[in-house]
Amino acid sequence: MTNASVPHHIKDAGLATRGQQRIEWAAQDMPVLGLVRDRFEREKPFAGIRLGACLHITTETANLLIALKAGGADVTACASNPLSTQDETAAALVVGHGISVYAIKGEDEATYHSHISKVLDTKPNITMDDGCDLVAEIHKNRNDLFETIIGGTEETTTGVIRLKAMEKNDVLQFPIIAVNEAATKHLFDNRYGTGQSTLDGVVRATNILLAGKVIVVCGFGWCGRGIAMRARGMGASVIVTDVDPTRALEAVMEGYRVLPIADAAREGDLFLTVTGNIHVIDKAHFAVMKTGAMVANSGHFNVEINLPGLEEMSVSHRKVRDYVDEFLMPDGRKIFVLGEGRLINLAAGDGHPASVMDMSFANQALAAEYMVKNAKGLTAHVYDVPLDIDREVARLKLHALGVTIDTLTAEQDKYINSWEEGT
Ligand code: ADE
Repeated sequence: MTNASVPHHIKDAGLATRGQQRIEWAAQDMPVLGLVRDRFEREKPFAGIRLGACLHITTETANLLIALKAGGADVTACASNPLSTQDETAAALVVGHGISVYAIKGEDEATYHSHISKVLDTKPNITMDDGCDLVAEIHKNRNDLFETIIGGTEETTTGVIRLKAMEKNDVLQFPIIAVNEAATKHLFDNRYGTGQSTLDGVVRATNILLAGKVIVVCGFGWCGRGIAMRARGMGASVIVTDVDPTRALEAVMEGYRVLPIADAAREGDLFLTVTGNIHVIDKAHFAVMKTGAMVANSGHFNVEINLPGLEEMSVSHRKVRDYVDEFLMPDGRKIFVLGEGRLINLAAGDGHPASVMDMSFANQALAAEYMVKNAKGLTAHVYDVPLDIDREVARLKLHALGVTIDTLTAEQDKYINSWEEGT
């Protein structure tokens, strides 16, 4: 622990030692990112590059930022959600690693946005976003930065959806690599990461028994698939809601009950939203919920549950535990909101385990390096992570896990690459 001389706005620099211990704990489970960091250290691919990151400030993110700095980047970071920051991690980054961080757990929305501005004030060459708030702010209010920005990366489904809308509306001004689209990201982070960490967040907030509960999972994308799978594994009976017929059909064939939310609302003990959309749980649904029903969100933004609507309908509300607010309805029913409707896995828990973030953030680091090396040949579009990076991350992860796989024989290679052979 050396200095707190870099610009920052964090809760308490005195938390740095504890934060450093936790960063090292996460590093043990991030071998792929560790290899990338070691190479960056030697090759310095980010020499002279200012990188502005808007990410959840967790121990896993800390390991990513440390790797980028090892690669020569001048890194400044802010939170991508007001409630996801680990204050001790932020302290360790500032004090122990000399990385500028602007993030305080529980910051209000004005502070959240002021922290984004602080990152943008550094005139980043590369943006690294989780949810597209950094890039959206640049396009709305900081067009002066277009001159110095080379390109960016985006971590999450919601961010990619926003970027694709910008691309479609012809407003996007620089290239972005959609890290979420890498197979080694969404198949693991969104599915196993969200699946486990969402239930972990719920259990940490409430200590409820999941066995025997009716859990309604709203949205059957990769995150919803993961949550439904893990909820079933814990003995819950799972209902899935989705607007996409193919996904709904998949949920049926996975053996889940599929219902419209209006019907599921009457049955659920616990509702978990992961749709990326607004007011998926709305006033009409609160009106028919059982007393004691709990609602939580694991989607990126806190819009999936209509909380202003619930507040209007209720006669009073109070905090009954950390991350649990009780809303008393006029007919005496109680509805509990977990984690203020923000990402429950990061609000009440530690987010996804390091082992999956290892792959997500190895993709982030390598995508940022690719952007620095190749931006001149890219235009203002949303790009996938190059397949060779995605496959290399899988290969390195398998190696780290001690798993070996077959390679094609010469005969198989010839066969699979030819069209002549058939019946
Ligand atoms: N998103 C979900 N879990 C995360 C974590 N542990 N760190 C950073 N971003 C995350």
